[in-house]
Amino acid sequence: NAYKVAILGATGAVGEVMREILAERNFPVSELFLLASERSAGDTLDFAGKAVRVRDAATFDWTGVDIGLFSAGAAASEIYAPKAAAAGAVVIDNTSRYRYEEDIPLVVPEVNPQRIADYQTRNIIANPNCSTIQMLLALKPIADSVGLERVVVSTYQAVSGAGSRAIQELGRQTLGIFKQEEVAPAVFPKQIAFNCLPQIDVFQDNGYTKEEMKMLWESRKILEIPDLPLSATCVRVPVFYGHSEAVNVVTRKKLSAEEMRALLCNAPGVQIWDERETGGWPTALDSAGKDATWVGRIREDCSHERGLNFWVVADNIRKGAALNSVQIAEILIRDYL
Ligand code: A2P
Repeated sequence: NAYKVAILGATGAVGEVMREILAERNFPVSELFLLASERSAGDTLDFAGKAVRVRDAATFDWTGVDIGLFSAGAAASEIYAPKAAAAGAVVIDNTSRYRYEEDIPLVVPEVNPQRIADYQTRNIIANPNCSTIQMLLALKPIADSVGLERVVVSTYQAVSGAGSRAIQELGRQTLGIFKQEEVAPAVFPKQIAFNCLPQIDVFQDNGYTKEEMKMLWESRKILEIPDLPLSATCVRVPVFYGHSEAVNVVTRKKLSAEEMRALLCNAPGVQIWDERETGGWPTALDSAGKDATWVGRIREDCSHERGLNFWVVADNIRKGAALNSVQIAEILIRDYL
């Protein structure tokens, strides 16, 4: 069997990698539709060696499309996901638009693949936030074996998570500094080059940002631990690709660093890189372009007898977005379509 697949947001940072990953993993595509706004309609993009024309999503007829991979922002998903779903396509939505709706499955294939079965209610499956996905790959085996009492996480997030204009802004500001030409912030609220910005997405009433609350809401939903205590600080850093996270977890039963290492050795999607010597740990640059989620700096927390610290890194555009979506699509066609 082969499937008609549409990518909404095909010209964007995630859409581009969705196209690459479909080809790389030989996803059985009978026809690929590339959709964007009228701004890029008419452009051509490569798919598996063939030129494919970009179409305007506003005038696209969804009839006959089997799978829609959406990454054009929450506002576009709001308009097009119900349209595509009503026409019979299963939408895998990479935006935050449907993640928190009770009857929409929110899926990380290594963590809760069984939830994909719930797609039929709305014909929409939500892909979680990039920071949540990589953290849960490491937390799931711990949650299952010894239970989680509390999680505290700080993120160091790449600009690509904010889209292709954000990638350009970091590039132009960096060059501008060397040329002594100021490039004013447009995508980010302050200069991102040579800086760290402790705000991702908008502020909430409780003083957290929405990105921070996404990590709480989504972890609870995916792990099915509705009262999980979790506190996040999300920071944008001048890195192009790859999110890094420093995670502190207090477990219900004691887990030693050695035991955590053994657990994660068998965790799907996780690679341990933890040598306890200079340079023996993963970085964002190491993760860029790779599928794995890398875990390093595993150590027992010297301030709590059931605490553990670790560092987790993944390519936010791949595992954090495009790859996770395509993995969901692979399970969907294998088990359900
Ligand atoms: P376009 O190229 O027409 O602007 P990024 O996340 O890198 O900023 O990319 C966003 C993607 O979403 C682009 O492909 C962009 O297309 C697409 N997009 C944004 N808004 C809409 C919309 N209202 N309808 C369709 N596609 C959209």
